[in-house]
Amino acid sequence: MKYIFTVINILFFTTTLFAQRTSIEPGQLWPDQNGNHIQAHGGGIIKIKKTYYWYGEERRQGLDPNLRYVSCYASKDLMNWTFQKDVVQMSDPENLGPGWILERPKVYYQPQTKKYVMYFHLDNKAYSYARVGIAVSDSANGDFKFVKSFRPLGRPSRDIGQFIDNDGSAYLIFEDRELGFHIAKLSADLMSVEKDMSLIKASLEGGAVVHYDSLYYVIGSALTGWKPNPNKYATAKSLEGPWTDFRDIAPPETNTYQSQSTMMVKVTGTKSTTVIFMADQWKPSAQWDSRYLWMPLEINDGKLWLPKPRPWSLNIKTGLFKILQQK
Ligand code: DGJ
Repeated sequence: MKYIFTVINILFFTTTLFAQRTSIEPGQLWPDQNGNHIQAHGGGIIKIKKTYYWYGEERRQGLDPNLRYVSCYASKDLMNWTFQKDVVQMSDPENLGPGWILERPKVYYQPQTKKYVMYFHLDNKAYSYARVGIAVSDSANGDFKFVKSFRPLGRPSRDIGQFIDNDGSAYLIFEDRELGFHIAKLSADLMSVEKDMSLIKASLEGGAVVHYDSLYYVIGSALTGWKPNPNKYATAKSLEGPWTDFRDIAPPETNTYQSQSTMMVKVTGTKSTTVIFMADQWKPSAQWDSRYLWMPLEINDGKLWLPKPRPWSLNIKTGLFKILQQK
């Protein structure tokens, strides 16, 4: 009898653990193929052929405190993610000493050079170094080797965001405390930041941009450290602006449902286009347990709204999504 129970338990455990996921559940633990909570905080996603790669801050417990890590996960449907490996394990790339910072990694692909180019926020403990770092790899799942660091356009840069337009041109969004929020074009080889498309005079970080139905939408959060705040958006017909005033993306009293933007992911299928708001619910004293808030945005004619987080599913072929809980 005891034996039968053990077998049933093991079967139950393994089927639950390895079952295909059919939904995205904002704010819940999000297990990878091994049942471990996904560690890709402050992340970014690129699609290569039919595979999505999600890179982010690896913050699992037990890491070597002298190293900084970036993880890489792969998925075909954006719901089931397979941990590839930590594609960055760096010690002190610029002699910053213990406690140096690597945040918000974003990876771009250059089809001519066939290089994967990672940008990340590189800083010291006091956040006064304020640079971007670049690391390069020959394949999506690493290893990425550190190349250089600099201040984009000579300006201090903290949070970074990534935007790739419909024509493939690549942009870096970066927060410059004195001047504002830059949306800057990368050079063709992706190895430098060429010029500002827009410098929006607003104190915003966690920058994200999407091009949807002939309008550009930019989202940013206020500067409140790890604490959530009401994220806001503006629109423009061109990346060069002019941008509208900033408006709330969600009821302000929810503080963006306790989250902070990191990217918008556009999924274009055979029937519809869904734009996913990808955000972090930070837990600064237990970062390994920080959660993700992903929800399809309601976007219509210059208006953008983040609906109340609820479980939902996505059909990657049609681009249609379904909210699985009514209230
Ligand atoms: C807010 C940023 O968005 C995060 O990436 C991180 O830099 C924290 N600030 C640090 O306080």
